[in-house]
Amino acid sequence: MVDLTSSPRPTISYRPIRPSDLEVLEKIHDDLFPIRYESEFFHNVVNGRDIVSWGAVDRSRPNGQSDELIGFVTTRIVLAKESEIEDLLGVDSSKSDQTLVYILTLGVVESYRNLGIATSLVREVIKYASSFPTCRAVYLHVISYNSPAIHLYKKMSFQCVRRLYGFYFINGQHYDSYLFIYYVNGGRSPCSPLELVTLAATYIRSGFKSMAARLRKSEEKKVLRWPKGKETCCLMTATQNKRSFTTEDAGCQFV
Ligand SMILES: CC(C)(COP(=O)(O)OP(=O)(O)OC[C@H]1O[C@@H](n2cnc3c(N)ncnc32)[C@H](O)[C@@H]1OP(=O)(O)O)[C@@H](O)C(=O)NCCC(=O)NCCS
Repeated sequence: MVDLTSSPRPTISYRPIRPSDLEVLEKIHDDLFPIRYESEFFHNVVNGRDIVSWGAVDRSRPNGQSDELIGFVTTRIVLAKESEIEDLLGVDSSKSDQTLVYILTLGVVESYRNLGIATSLVREVIKYASSFPTCRAVYLHVISYNSPAIHLYKKMSFQCVRRLYGFYFINGQHYDSYLFIYYVNGGRSPCSPLELVTLAATYIRSGFKSMAARLRKSEEKKVLRWPKGKETCCLMTATQNKRSFTTEDAGCQFV
């Protein structure tokens, strides 16, 4: 471990993550998170496949370590209308091109903490999200006991919009998560009277639609006798939406 207390202030710089970072990136994730990520996740990060990421390095480190990662943030672009936060965006979110940036993982090696490195990495994400006009927000989940991370997002004006009970399942235990959002490019929660009326109308319409579908289905059921397994399949999908992790089961969500 690097002892920064006796050395001069490090010279931190930020750069994209690249294939040569693979090993270190994997090691830092293993060290920092209570879950193991699949090797495919790391390959996707370093090759920029569907993932946009930034790394932090300490240029003042000796012995050829000046380009070695000491921090990272990884993100994915998602379609607003397919996200779990569509209801927290303005009416525009149903437009097919509206996007969001989801933070997958963020971490800083212990000896480099409290130097503002994570703040700078998250700032990069916000700058990136703001740079394309279709993007409405940056969002993420954080496990409810992670005080340094919660402090960081609040300090950066992220809004804590939801508590998700038992969202994570890690090594046989359930943990809640908070959902944090940072709106960009005028994205915001529906709040004008017109938007609230539109939102209510959408809910009512979809309520009628699903009631009509249920009625139709029950009519069909009488004729077709749907197999019971179909219900089970829907339940399974709903459960799988929760982040369920064991040390073997690796996902890409933010802890
Ligand atoms: C969360 C994490 C990324 C922060 O990295 P960092 O580079 O130290 O963050 P910064 O220096 O930009 O900011 C840290 C802030 O947290 C505060 N902080 C540190 N420990 C804290 C604690 N136990 N409780 C509350 N706040 C704390 C610091 O005082 C600082 O706030 P300030 O700027 O108002 O003084 C880092 O702790 C980490 O890698 N943790 C392990 C992985 C992780 O939890 N990732 C986040 C997943 S959501």
